[in-house]
Amino acid sequence: MALRIPRPFKRYPRATILLIAIFFFAIWNSFTIRNKLADHVQSYREPRVAIITLVTDEKSYMHASLKNKDYYARRHKHDFIVDYETHSERSVVWAKFDMIERLIKSNKYDWIWWMDFDTLITNTDIKITDVIRENLKNATNPGQIDYLLTHDCNGLNSGSYLVRGHARSLSFIDRVRGWHDVEEVAHNYLSEQDCMAAVLKQESGYKYYAYKVPQFQLNAFPEEIGCYEGPNGEGKWKVGAFVIHFAGAWAHVRGDDPTGQLMRKYKDLVVHARGEGGDRVSR
Ligand SMILES: *[C@@H]1O[C@H](CO)[C@@H](O)[C@H](O)[C@H]1NC(C)=O
Repeated sequence: MALRIPRPFKRYPRATILLIAIFFFAIWNSFTIRNKLADHVQSYREPRVAIITLVTDEKSYMHASLKNKDYYARRHKHDFIVDYETHSERSVVWAKFDMIERLIKSNKYDWIWWMDFDTLITNTDIKITDVIRENLKNATNPGQIDYLLTHDCNGLNSGSYLVRGHARSLSFIDRVRGWHDVEEVAHNYLSEQDCMAAVLKQESGYKYYAYKVPQFQLNAFPEEIGCYEGPNGEGKWKVGAFVIHFAGAWAHVRGDDPTGQLMRKYKDLVVHARGEGGDRVSR
C-alpha cells in the first residue's frame, strides 16, 4: 500500500517531507547520544589519587625527593601530601598507617599511594591510574581489592603501594596494628611491613583484599640493591621504569649517606617523555 500523506502536506513532494523527517530525527538522536556519552564519561571518571610520604628529619636528598613527587602530582593532577612529624604510639614506620587512615576518612580519594621517602618516580609519563586499572583487570575480584602491594626477594616490601580510599581498607590496617601490639607484649618489636606480611600469610581472609603487582611496575630496586622479585631478576630497575626505591641502601652501599648517593645518581636518570620535547632523560 502506498504511503498516505495527510491533507495539509499534500502540496509538498514526498521527498521533501522525508528529508524534513530525517532532519528532525537526526537532531533528536544527537541529543540522546550526547546524554548517553555524558553518563558514560561520568561513570569512567579518573580515580582521585593522593600521593603521600613522610619525612621526620633533615636529609641530604630532601629537595630531590620532594621535587620529584611534587612534579609528578602536578603533572597528573593528583594531591601530594607530606607529613613532617608523627604522633604514632608505635615506632615511626607505623605513622604511614595513621596518614592512610586519616586520608581514607577524608573521603577525598579513591586511591592512596604510599611512597617511602627514599623513592623516585623515574618515568613521569606513566600514569599511576593506568597501573591501578591494568593490575585490577588481572585480579579475580577487582572490586574486592583494597591493597596493591609488591614483593622483593624477601617477600612483601611496603616502600610503594596503593590503598583503596574506602572504609573497608581500615579493617586490614586495624588487624595489622593488632598483630604488632600482641607481639610487642612479648618484646618482639615488628615493623609494619613484617606485620602486614604476617597477617596476609596467616589469616587467609585478608589475602582476598590484596593483589600483588609485579615489583618492576611500582617498586623497582636499582642494581646496587640486588633484591629483586622474580627468577630472572624482573624487579630490577632500568631507564624508563616507573619507580625506583633505595630500600635498605645502608646495607648495600659503602660510604657516608648511602641513600643520598643513590638519590643523586638516579635523579639524573628520570624520564619525562611527553610534553618536554619527546623522549629524554633529564635533570
Ligand atoms: C596481566 O596478566 C597478563 C598475563 O599474565 C600479563 O601479560 C600482563 O602483564 C598482566 N598485567 C599487568 C599490569 O601486570
